Amino acid sequence: MAERVTIYEVSPRDGLQNEPRLIGTADKIRLVDLLSACGFSHIEVTSFVSPRRVPQMADAAQVLAGIRRTPGTTYAALTPNQQGFQHAMKARAGEVAVFASASEGFSQKNINCSIAESIERFRPVLAAARTAGIPVRGYVSCVTDCPCNGPVAPEAVARVAQALLDLGCHQISLGDTLGAGTPETIGRMLETVLERIPAARLAGHYHDTRGRALDNIRISLARGLRVFDSSAGGLGGCPFAPGARGNVATETVVAMLHRMGFATGIDPARLQEAADFALSLRSRQ
Ligand code: HMG
Ligand code: MG
Repeated sequence: MAERVTIYEVSPRDGLQNEPRLIGTADKIRLVDLLSACGFSHIEVTSFVSPRRVPQMADAAQVLAGIRRTPGTTYAALTPNQQGFQHAMKARAGEVAVFASASEGFSQKNINCSIAESIERFRPVLAAARTAGIPVRGYVSCVTDCPCNGPVAPEAVARVAQALLDLGCHQISLGDTLGAGTPETIGRMLETVLERIPAARLAGHYHDTRGRALDNIRISLARGLRVFDSSAGGLGGCPFAPGARGNVATETVVAMLHRMGFATGIDPARLQEAADFALSLRSRQ
């Protein structure tokens, strides 16, 4: 039987958060519903963050209220603090994610606190999630390069990833936020992280600014990772990482994985339909 690779589909969140034009709630719901028909086990729907900082995600609760939920799919949301977690629980998110950075500059820019402060902010979120029986994913941004501080030491990534696991995150998603990573820098980073953390607890989240994301997935597969984040249509970017392009496109990742003999459970024809719709929502066609 073909070995399984899991895709976290992040287009409704990472894909849309950076769009300059406000996208209607009904269109966001339609995107999630189209994705729900593809066979994803996980769809990251939205984020419960400050609407002043990320206006595109201000309708998080309405989007989660409007989607048709498919059994077997977990609908996730980003929650940077307790306020976000409480809203996500009211909106019936099935999984939440906290997000830290391996570099101090991006931590300040993105979530307005130091790395150490962010871990303390996440502690009550993890405690509340444990009580509620909700799984929590942890992101580490800037795993090779930071828009503020330049190259990032692999040891810094390993330390933050370990701190998130110690808090109780079930999985750590390693974010190449800028899309500046190469198989060499991603490979070196993974080597250091894997000294502490087994591949089964890690995911790769690679933006595709320089067209290296597929290469970075291949090197990660060779190191044992079997979970990757991607975005239908290749949409995405972080408002606080200027110049960063979208996540690697899910349709190209799925095609590559199927060619390599992995099973994803995703229907390529339905995925193409969702990707076409995602692309139609972009301001820049
Ligand atoms: P803060 O800036 O430290 O300030 O917030 P605060 O906690 O004192 O709150 C300031 C204001 O935000 C207050 O409202 C709060 O009520 C409100 P005001 O009194 O000014 O009207 N607020 C909230 N509102 C809604 N939901 C909340 C919430 N929390 C506070 N949860 C905070 C810290 C993190 C919330 C803020 O800085 C923020 O929202 N930052 C945006 C972070 C973000 O969404 N970044 C993009 C996603 S991360 C990403 O893309 C990277 C990733 O893809 C991986 C990768 O590629 O590397 C995951
Ligand atoms: Mg991202």
